[in-house]
Amino acid sequence: MAAPRILALESSCDETACAVVEGLFVRASVVASQVELHAQFGGVVPELASRHHLTAAVPVVREALARAGVGFEWFDAIGVTEGPGLVGALLVAVQLARGLSLATGLPLVGVHHMEGHLVSPFLGDADAPPAEFAPHLALSVSGGHSELVHVQGLGRYEVLGSTRDDAAGEAFDKAAKLLGLGYPGGPVIDRLAADGDPNAVPFPRAMLGSRDNLEFSFSGLKTAVAVYIDQHGQPSSRQALADVCASFQAAVVSVLVAKLRAARRRVGTSLVTIVGGVSANRGLRAALAEAATRDGFTLRVPPLRYCGDNAAMIGGAAALRWAAGIRREPPVEVYASLAL
Ligand code: KG4
Ligand code: ZN
Repeated sequence: MAAPRILALESSCDETACAVVEGLFVRASVVASQVELHAQFGGVVPELASRHHLTAAVPVVREALARAGVGFEWFDAIGVTEGPGLVGALLVAVQLARGLSLATGLPLVGVHHMEGHLVSPFLGDADAPPAEFAPHLALSVSGGHSELVHVQGLGRYEVLGSTRDDAAGEAFDKAAKLLGLGYPGGPVIDRLAADGDPNAVPFPRAMLGSRDNLEFSFSGLKTAVAVYIDQHGQPSSRQALADVCASFQAAVVSVLVAKLRAARRRVGTSLVTIVGGVSANRGLRAALAEAATRDGFTLRVPPLRYCGDNAAMIGGAAALRWAAGIRREPPVEVYASLAL
């Protein structure tokens, strides 16, 4: 069967995105980010996100079609994120997809946002032979999620552990806010940490006691940063700030790596992926590459452009579903929360 040709749309949070994919091969991926808009409020403002999706949605579709050099007649189906996410934001891509479907006759494929992230390390460019999607173990870490997922097949996901409170990206964002570094905090802390001493401040590593427990907790770490600032004041030099960032990042990374190694020992998969915004983190990537060598597993990470939210991953997931004849039922709605 020829690789399914999918026009994909995504608007679950603060990126308006459209992509043109052929199976897992990405022909065009366009992302209109609202990060600067929300930065002044220190986080995503749902109402503003919806309004900006409305103005950005049609231009990103035009841009993606132009970059791929194809028209609507080229496609087999339209893939769109139906959840989880901000309902008012999700509605924009879903309504546009419904309209395009009515106008063109192309069928709709609803995609779970997190399934899109799970597919992101498998997106290929040009000549790369597609890798097998399953089985593998995924560490999914973003602003809203921290989960260890045993991917047994398409649509067959066992969540082995997740966060009890803050997600990993949320921890980065909250720590950055406490340090006056703006939003989103992950990329800034990542950059500063590169010049810091990870052993400068002994921040806590939560939930490391039991190997059987694959849950995370990051809210105590955020409190530890607040207490540190209370006791020592804001870091007084660039080096002191870098040291706090490096120490904070090391605490997050060591917990993520320890839990992932324990999960892999449990499920025994030889392939491991990291996905979501935090998978861009250089400290995490380096530590996992080292663990891969030590433990003898293969690590697959998405290229940086597919770590954050994008439509290429939604297109890839829709293509896999289309090829396998698996649809989500009922056909295409919006869901604030949605089980994987
Ligand atoms: O997947 P994503 O773009 O959006 C969702 O939350 O779904 O993830 C955004 C999160 C933010 O919390 C951001 O601070 C974090 O990913 N992030 C990072 C890095 N780049 C983005 N965290 C650590 N290091 C990074 N380089
Ligand atoms: Zn996401």
